[in-house]
Amino acid sequence: ATHNLLLLPGDGIGPEVMAEVKRLIEFFNKKGPNRFVYEEGLVGGASYDADKTSISDVTMEKAKAADAIIFGSVGGPKWADVPYEARPEAGLLRLRKDLDLYANLRPAVTYPALADASSLKRELVEGLDIMILRELTGGVYFGEPKTITDLGNGQKRAVDTQVYDTYEIERISRVAFELARKRNNKVTSMEKHNVMKSGVLWKEVVQQTHDREFKDVKLEHQLADSGGMQLVKNPKQFDVIVCDNLFGDMLSDIAAMLTGSLGMLASASLGEVDPKTKRRKAMYEPVHGSAPDIAGKGLANPIAMIASFGMALRYSFDMGAEADLIDKAIAATLDKGIRTADIATAGEKTVSTTEMGSAILAE
Ligand code: NAI
Ligand code: MG
Repeated sequence: ATHNLLLLPGDGIGPEVMAEVKRLIEFFNKKGPNRFVYEEGLVGGASYDADKTSISDVTMEKAKAADAIIFGSVGGPKWADVPYEARPEAGLLRLRKDLDLYANLRPAVTYPALADASSLKRELVEGLDIMILRELTGGVYFGEPKTITDLGNGQKRAVDTQVYDTYEIERISRVAFELARKRNNKVTSMEKHNVMKSGVLWKEVVQQTHDREFKDVKLEHQLADSGGMQLVKNPKQFDVIVCDNLFGDMLSDIAAMLTGSLGMLASASLGEVDPKTKRRKAMYEPVHGSAPDIAGKGLANPIAMIASFGMALRYSFDMGAEADLIDKAIAATLDKGIRTADIATAGEKTVSTTEMGSAILAE
């Protein structure tokens, strides 16, 4: 099959790490049978410099038409004073919003060679491979009313509102169960039904979706606070964790710290199934930003970007074997002691972005 990608390298180290993904695309195109055709577009500061907007309508149309978007990173001091609506981050937010990317996937994977670099005990994190799935477009970050009111007696009142409708919980649950089927077939749903009505509905809808459509997947429910404790105490018990926007924000950052450097963390955001292609709208991106402090120096770690591309293969294109190949190549490269500066320990020899890319490609 032929797959259409839109590459949006963005700013700072974005283009540097995206260059390593292009080499992987060439590799897989030679290997076959799947072929990738890609176009490149401008986003963030790079787009502002060219078109005075953080993403043009033309690029948005391409994003909507693509089978998947591979995104680098945006932002930097150069654009600190551009008008608010044209700031680099606005391009990323528009992509998420216009494509309705409501499911945020944040894997936490520990590579054996880096297990000691984690702040936690080796036996706890060695071989860790879990996925935090965070609802991204609803919940308390967006619910109305959202106000601060002056009560007039020297007191103010702040109100945020957690709102979830059945359909929002249903669609994120479906993504969770679909992911689990491509992984280790287990979903843990986390909420606080003991104190929150949204938690009651969350638990109920996840269970119903399971019983109706995904009986083959193992489902567990945990309260989000003790679930967070379990995540740090015994993370390997989990496969896919699904939760709302707020709990997901916290739990995914906690899980990230089980594994180490920002330069290693991949992510994906998924939306609805496109009726024509039968594929979910999807954007894959590293968790890190544009790293202005190291941009242009060839120092960036391309692993987060490469692993994000690996997620595209697994979750958009059913190329699980090829995605495994990428993961194994990363692990083998790290096993050989090859390190970019961000993951090296003091005194260790380090390699450049391109050298890391070459080493992974060779594996
Ligand atoms: P950052 O992630 O760009 O950098 C934080 C620190 O981690 C820096 O010291 C950087 O050198 C290091 N780092 C990040 N990625 C690395 C990699 N691949 N290899 C080696 N080292 C790496 O976050 P920061 O500094 O808070 O933000 C810089 C700019 O990026 C800002 O304009 C911010 O708004 C933007 N940003 C964009 C994001 C995106 O495009 N999704 C996400 C986060 C920040
Ligand atoms: Mg966060």
